[in-house]
Amino acid sequence: MTGKPRVWISRPTFPDIVARLEPHFEVTAEAEESVFAPAELASRLAPLGAAIVGLNQRIGAAEVANAPCLRIVANLAVGYDNLDIAALTARGIAASHTPDVLSESVADFTWALLLGAARHMGAAERWLRAGHWRANGFKDWLGLDTRGRTLGILGMGRIGQAVARRAAGFGMRVVYHNRSRQPASIEAGCAASYVDKSTLLAESDFLVLALPLSAGNRHAIGAAELARMKPTAVLVNIARGGIVDDAALAAALAQGRLAAAALDVFEGEPDVHPALLALDNVILSPHIASATWDTRRAMTALAVDNVLALFGHGQHAGQPPSLLNPEVLASRPAP
Ligand code: GLV
Repeated sequence: MTGKPRVWISRPTFPDIVARLEPHFEVTAEAEESVFAPAELASRLAPLGAAIVGLNQRIGAAEVANAPCLRIVANLAVGYDNLDIAALTARGIAASHTPDVLSESVADFTWALLLGAARHMGAAERWLRAGHWRANGFKDWLGLDTRGRTLGILGMGRIGQAVARRAAGFGMRVVYHNRSRQPASIEAGCAASYVDKSTLLAESDFLVLALPLSAGNRHAIGAAELARMKPTAVLVNIARGGIVDDAALAAALAQGRLAAAALDVFEGEPDVHPALLALDNVILSPHIASATWDTRRAMTALAVDNVLALFGHGQHAGQPPSLLNPEVLASRPAP
């Protein structure tokens, strides 16, 4: 034992970034991706001062019950529905996430999905690779234009705004719905108008979901919401599995009640609803919207900064930059 607090990183990240922890901590990092069962996770967390974890690790009261020295769980994600923040706060354990640093990459990928779905990229590529291309039919693969169409955004946080800002280049009108209306300066910066959810569903030609998953918005897009959308519309989910009722979505796509969908996230991922897998008018990606070199490095750096700062080290000493429950700082001062 060196006497240094222990940090565990639940997934492979970037050793040159994690090395910043080494002067202050005993660092252990998993060399492979794994999802730990609750008991295994609890025993990993038990001896730690800090944990840097991926969103595939679910951490609540049971997982931290025997971790008396654990002071921070740093999530390598902006979404934190895998963490029970109330349970962590109750034990004086800080939680952090990685906002801002991923917004632009996620917005880029959202547009890749949106355009891919609008222009049949997935199905056309599968068809070509299968050797079906003999001649070009003038009316083959007709897709949807974006120019002059309405982009709807449900969830106008940092990512929703980054998606909206790109819409000007595609000549689109932008409407949004959010729990609370954004200030006029943000609306002007995004050239976006606030509408109620029902109007958003009815008017969107392309509907992007960019809201966090919470207890209250599971199946925010279910059968009833899908029924309000235009049959020519495209749904893009880069938010979280569980926000969309995937079975209801697959039924709407199969029955022509929705033109197409593009999905980076799924209920119960990494499993994907089999009915979605069988459809050609949906583009699927394995939860990779933030996966660029720059962004995944920046997410790692931010998680490391939060851990260092909580223990009084680094440029943010004492003030972790992206805490989810800053109230724990008052109740449990740094050593
Ligand atoms: C990814 O889904 C994230 O929340 O960062």
